Amino acid sequence: MSSGRTIVVGITGGIAAYKAVNVVRAFVLRGDTVQVVATPAALRFVGKPTLEAISRNPVHTDLYEGVAEVRHVAIGQSADLIVVAPATANSIAKLAAGLADDLLGNTILASTAPVVIAPAMHTEMWNNAATVANIATLRARGVTIVGPGVGQLTGSDSGAGRMAEPDTIVAAALAALAAAENGRASSDLAGKRIVITAGGTREPLDPVRFLGNRSSGKQGVALAEAAAARGASVILIAANLEVPAPTTVDLRPVNSALDLERAVTEAAVGADVVIMAAAVADYRPVTVRADKIKKDDTGDSLLLELTRNPDILAGLAARKAPGQGLVGFAAETETDPDRLLALGRAKMARKGCDFLVVNRVGWSEGFASDHNEVRVLDRRGDIVCEASGTKMSVAGHILDLIS
Ligand code: CTP
Repeated sequence: MSSGRTIVVGITGGIAAYKAVNVVRAFVLRGDTVQVVATPAALRFVGKPTLEAISRNPVHTDLYEGVAEVRHVAIGQSADLIVVAPATANSIAKLAAGLADDLLGNTILASTAPVVIAPAMHTEMWNNAATVANIATLRARGVTIVGPGVGQLTGSDSGAGRMAEPDTIVAAALAALAAAENGRASSDLAGKRIVITAGGTREPLDPVRFLGNRSSGKQGVALAEAAAARGASVILIAANLEVPAPTTVDLRPVNSALDLERAVTEAAVGADVVIMAAAVADYRPVTVRADKIKKDDTGDSLLLELTRNPDILAGLAARKAPGQGLVGFAAETETDPDRLLALGRAKMARKGCDFLVVNRVGWSEGFASDHNEVRVLDRRGDIVCEASGTKMSVAGHILDLIS
């Protein structure tokens, strides 16, 4: 079924162009009409037949083809959304300068649709002052920047510059489109300072062992990435993430619950919003051994004595400055929807935050998944939002509430 929307996917010449095929595919499967505009360099990385088959439309490259139908402006005028993935350092520079020496440049200049770009390049190029300035220019112009992430690059090296994953790009693009359609600026969080905790704490037992939990950090990272894409300045307090952290945030790695408490307490000063998405251990070992615990010393059973960790969220709520927003998460294994909500309401009353995001976790649900299903409660315990989908799209709904 057609969504009635036309999405222009611009593909520029970087190795990540092969991943753009999945961006195109995701829009097509949603029912969007997709027009691919590829630069000649992009077609050195991914074949035109592949893009035509996946987009179900001809792929345009040449500025001097289709002149009779004024194609150099027609594509841009028809677009409801333009996504450039990957956006190379060169294409970002051209976009920032407003150059129109190829079909993609003309298409973007001729369009009033929201533009979302997914940069991909080597770390040195991403950190270069020219790229930094170009990205700032585009951001100020309302362009949504998604990623890049930190991770394996083309060669054996790794660092900042890896293109965001296709589903992250699609979710950010759809959020920008929804913002435009609702008359909301895609940088509606500009000037806001948001602190987000993500991941799971590890409570050390000895130099080699810890008590941990299965949180991957995906939901917190998605929130951080989405908030930064919407213009917020984000501090991400990261407890043992299993996913790359976005480069667009101020990253503060932590390990244990006490580390996290120190980091979030310091970062919360002056923050507009604090989001506690991290899974914090409720208990830690009373003693942390300086040396490895040996079986010869402990025998056939080992009793660990644990002590309660502070409830960080409740502490933040008790000390929070007037006007600061505080969002907690509730991870519950309860399968009955009503009882799940009742647990959420009781937790809300205990924690004293402004919103509580309730989600179910289990052996196969919640943690490592790319999807999430949440209900958000306000202070009175009323459901103010229900969302399901990718963790990026759920992040968008939570940020809409905050916004
Ligand atoms: N949290 C916290 N400090 C803790 C434990 C949890 O700040 N010591 C925060 C989490 O970051 C989350 C919220 O409190 O935002 C709820 O966490 P959850 O693990 O669902 O609940 P608990 O408070 O640990 O309660 P219980 O384990 O009894 O469900």
